[in-house]
Amino acid sequence: MLLVFIRATSIRYSAMTRYVKSMRWKSVTLPTNVFYAPLAGCSDFAFRHMASFHPVGLMFCEMVRMEALVRNIGATYRMLAYRDSMRPIGAQLCGSNPRLAAPTARIIEELGFDTVDLNCGCPVDKVTKDGSGSGLLKTPLKIGEIVAEMVAAVEIPVTLKIRAGWDDAHINAPEITRIAESAGAVAIAVHGRTREQQYRGKADRGVIRKCKEAASSIAVIGNGDVFSPEEGRALFEETGCDAVLVSRGTLGKPWIAEDIVRFDKGLPPLKIDDATLFSYLLDHLRSIEGHEKGRKALLDARRVSCWFLRSRKEGKEVRGRINRLEEVGDIIRLVEELCAPVAIRGV
Ligand SMILES: Cc1cc2nc3c(=O)[nH]c(=O)nc-3n(C[C@H](O)[C@H](O)[C@H](O)COP(=O)(O)O)c2cc1C
Repeated sequence: MLLVFIRATSIRYSAMTRYVKSMRWKSVTLPTNVFYAPLAGCSDFAFRHMASFHPVGLMFCEMVRMEALVRNIGATYRMLAYRDSMRPIGAQLCGSNPRLAAPTARIIEELGFDTVDLNCGCPVDKVTKDGSGSGLLKTPLKIGEIVAEMVAAVEIPVTLKIRAGWDDAHINAPEITRIAESAGAVAIAVHGRTREQQYRGKADRGVIRKCKEAASSIAVIGNGDVFSPEEGRALFEETGCDAVLVSRGTLGKPWIAEDIVRFDKGLPPLKIDDATLFSYLLDHLRSIEGHEKGRKALLDARRVSCWFLRSRKEGKEVRGRINRLEEVGDIIRLVEELCAPVAIRGV
């Protein structure tokens, strides 16, 4: 009887389609096709330090403005700091001036990044007002022009990240996929929401599938609403995408890529018990303390604590105490007191 069960289980797993695989973009090998998205204000050095302990196929820094790079703004360059342990690592450019595309892509290449991406998705008014971010969705030919400038300027793979379209009446992601492919981009990440939707509602998987159908050689990366291994698999399954890009699902869960890979192999998720969760949080807080200063460090520490503690029953009370503290060191001491810390790794 037991033998029958074991055989049935192994047949089920072996019959399951495997979606996770390595990819090669020009001379860059990506160990898996599960990526971590650029997240302004979140995917900073400390965040990427935590993510680097898991098999992430490609991770991104926060977006940086093209204008800030050419003006040599120090804070912008600091956002692009990374360690080799974070590779493969991509930088994302935000801007709409085709004349800045080549010089800024070159800066990213000279900084040693593995890939460079063009942001065509940021919905914020102050970004879209000059036609940047999701403002570019209104000018698909300009996207082609900017991408072509970037491709001609660098050896590293050029990618872009778009939304489904500006609004429901203007869904043009499949058209942009074809334009980007002709311009020489190796991959396009498609967030299945419109600019009008911002982050509301569900991401439309149908539009990601249509981009995949429109693509010949360009890789299509699905994005939107992946908060669990099951949702990661469903995104592969329902869209036929070549890779998935996890965004908000990474916050306070730096191991989610590994769980998606494990699920694909029929393995159970990692065991994250209380001690492990607290040691992750402490590690993240110490990394913030080491890399950020002053008010920014304090606000980062408070935000990150919320991510990690949100699913715990005493989380609300602890978050309240954390938000009343004014020094990162005090937050660290409070979290240390709350747990018997298990030092799983240094910062
Ligand atoms: C706080 C925050 C910051 C973001 N920053 C960026 C960014 O810098 N560049 C970008 O292309 N997308 C950015 N996004 C969009 C996400 O990468 C992603 O496309 C979106 O959240 C949808 O995926 P999700 O539903 O899995 O979160 C941001 C989203 C959030 C919530």
